[in-house]
Amino acid sequence: MALKRSKITGVGKYLPDYVMTNEELEKHVDTNDEWIRSRTGIAERRILKDPDKATSFMATNAAEDALKDADIDAEEIDLIIVATVTPDYLFPATAALVQKRIGAKKAFGFDLSAACSGFLFALSTAGSMIESGRIKKALVIGADKMSSIMDFTDRTTCILFGDGAGAVVLEETDEDEGIVDFVQYTDGDENCTLYQPAGGSLNPATEETVKNKMHYIRQDGRTVFKKATEGMADVSLEIMKKNNLSPDDVAWLVPHQANLRIINATARRMGLSEDKVMININKYGNTTAATIPLCLYDWKDKLNKGDKIILSAFGGGLTWGAIYLKWSK
Ligand code: UT7
Repeated sequence: MALKRSKITGVGKYLPDYVMTNEELEKHVDTNDEWIRSRTGIAERRILKDPDKATSFMATNAAEDALKDADIDAEEIDLIIVATVTPDYLFPATAALVQKRIGAKKAFGFDLSAACSGFLFALSTAGSMIESGRIKKALVIGADKMSSIMDFTDRTTCILFGDGAGAVVLEETDEDEGIVDFVQYTDGDENCTLYQPAGGSLNPATEETVKNKMHYIRQDGRTVFKKATEGMADVSLEIMKKNNLSPDDVAWLVPHQANLRIINATARRMGLSEDKVMININKYGNTTAATIPLCLYDWKDKLNKGDKIILSAFGGGLTWGAIYLKWSK
């Protein structure tokens, strides 16, 4: 049987123009630039200020950018997955809004909720559909307007996140390239160490939920930090071992950008030197589902055909995983 894989043929992004610096946050909460940089690696993040624009706006722009890069028409797309925890609406799906706006007439689409692992889970899902032969071309988008669920009076969370979107076009290939393997995990977070308490069916919006700030992100930072450091490092090592990859074989690690210390711990565990690790958390903060495609975008001119790349993430859910792919552009 002929080999069937899926490969990335286009990468796109959208970042809001507004830059919120650590100094600006010092005016809202009791924090300082030195603390934020040394504990997280973040210097600034982008914020989508226009109240009339939301995740679908950023996702649409990133999708159009990726289609241009792949040099294909929206009408050729079979599937659109938007990974997000900040959809425009609970329904319809953000993917449906994107489908209409880009004119992807034959595509079906849905949103995928796996927080910071969302892009990875979406990429492996779309890739598996392509491998099965059911579809040929997909758009995989990671987009989050985190500022819509950030409490700018809570210094433990508001310094961490930013807004943005990244997208890739995934197409079928019969060569030894593209997505080779993935390893993914979920461990239901009954203790709610990272979540948004209200807005779902358990706590629908009421005056009370708004008053109690239950529509904002809550995180037990220390607990999540420990689990993220272990989870991301373990799964990255696991996918290397499973595919007989030595540190020399790996050209790039594309880590989820939640905390520079978590990224460094993962790279150390994989035996990778710093120059093989994509890091842009300093500029964008944690954009949740968008971090990995935003890294691919920022590094795309440095990537060579055949480069062995590990994508790795950890996030709310709890969810974590890694994808091994061979760059194909
Ligand atoms: O992307 C999804 C997954 N999420 C993550 O991976 C995030 C994981 N967690 C983290 O990245 C880190 O836990 C944080 C960056 C959120 C916090 O860093 P930390 O080193 O774990 O700090 P901490 O929570 O242990 O707090 C240390 C101290 C505390 O003061 P005391 O109790 O030692 O007096 C905090 O109150 O730092 C204080 N603190 C701050 N100080 C200045 C907490 N936030 C701030 C702040 N500015 N923004």
